[in-house]
Amino acid sequence: MTTTLLTGIAELTTHAEADTPGPLADAALVIADGRVAWTGPAAQAPDADERVDLGGRAVIPGFVDSHAHLVFAGDRAQEFAARMTGTPYSAGGIRTTVAATRAASDDALRANLRRLTEEMLRQGTTTVECKSGYGLTVEHEARALRLAREQVEAVTYLGAHVVPAEYQDRPAEYVDLVKGPMLDACAPYADFADVFCERGAFDAEQTREILTAARAKGLDLRLHANQLGNGPGVQLAVEFGAASADHCTFLDEKDIEALAGSQTVATLLPGVEFSTRSPYPDARRLLDAGATVAIATDCNPGSCYTNSMPFCIAVAVRDMHMSPAEALWAATVGGAEALRRDDVGHLGVGARADLAVLDAPSFIHLAYRPGVPLVHRVWKNGTPAG
Ligand code: NIG
Ligand code: FE
Repeated sequence: MTTTLLTGIAELTTHAEADTPGPLADAALVIADGRVAWTGPAAQAPDADERVDLGGRAVIPGFVDSHAHLVFAGDRAQEFAARMTGTPYSAGGIRTTVAATRAASDDALRANLRRLTEEMLRQGTTTVECKSGYGLTVEHEARALRLAREQVEAVTYLGAHVVPAEYQDRPAEYVDLVKGPMLDACAPYADFADVFCERGAFDAEQTREILTAARAKGLDLRLHANQLGNGPGVQLAVEFGAASADHCTFLDEKDIEALAGSQTVATLLPGVEFSTRSPYPDARRLLDAGATVAIATDCNPGSCYTNSMPFCIAVAVRDMHMSPAEALWAATVGGAEALRRDDVGHLGVGARADLAVLDAPSFIHLAYRPGVPLVHRVWKNGTPAG
């Protein structure tokens, strides 16, 4: 087993328990067997087989992007252009991507997924969650999850993304399919099930039926909740003990209380509000109430076609009034908690050695220098990427 000492770290953020007062200046980190074996002041660093001098850069845990839709074909650039000149975002655009995705070959979907996950890695994301939701038949949903499973670590069944055109007049039949044969075909590939609980997608009763069936099948749960308006999504996520309620754009007092009093993570997706020109979720009220907050990209061809966690951090800080430290925590530990993982999102001893080296002396630069490609190098599983 080769041990590697990373030295020349101007600022090390581990998010480990002992490190809660903040990042460590002039630090070092030892990697052994794909895991973090030691962190501390550079002056006290132990010997190692090899040594890498990071030249006075900041080191952070790799980002955990806990919400993305990456199995799709085509794009919706025209829809985005129309939105920027006044056409509002609606769930209906999903069907455009469904048609393109159904028509695409496995290899075309694989290649698009590979392109997106490689971009993510270059931007410091070392753990990716990916949903189905652009197939909406038994065959195409199972295919999406099978392809996602080849390339990402956390896979979510989202047959309940929208009612497909062919079921438009018989939504109850589509719900029966989603919680019956489609669930049976998809569960073997999935860790989580998700429902887009929203006006224009699935209502409270339909959501409840699907979540109940998915849970009985052994899947953990997450929910697209309160994205386009107030609604029952957040309350259902908490009631079902879901790992996370995602979007949380429109919350009332009761929703905030429910999240704060639960283990359900509030996953905020600032790229969506940015790209749909919507109001931002009230991150401050959630944080001040004691809710656990994650930040993720929601990368998809409709509501948000960025897969950049640094960009989302910058928006969360600038427009959602999160501090840079809160935003970094939400993009790392918060994302891990939303995926019910404790081995990623931090650099405590024993954690997976997933880290990003920044071309900056401090992580604050992620928000301070928006749009600048600051990720210098990435280690994943203790191995340099790229
Ligand atoms: O998370 N809200 C539902 N699903 C995606 C958007 C999908 C699309 O527009 O293609 C979201 O925003
Ligand atoms: Fe989404």
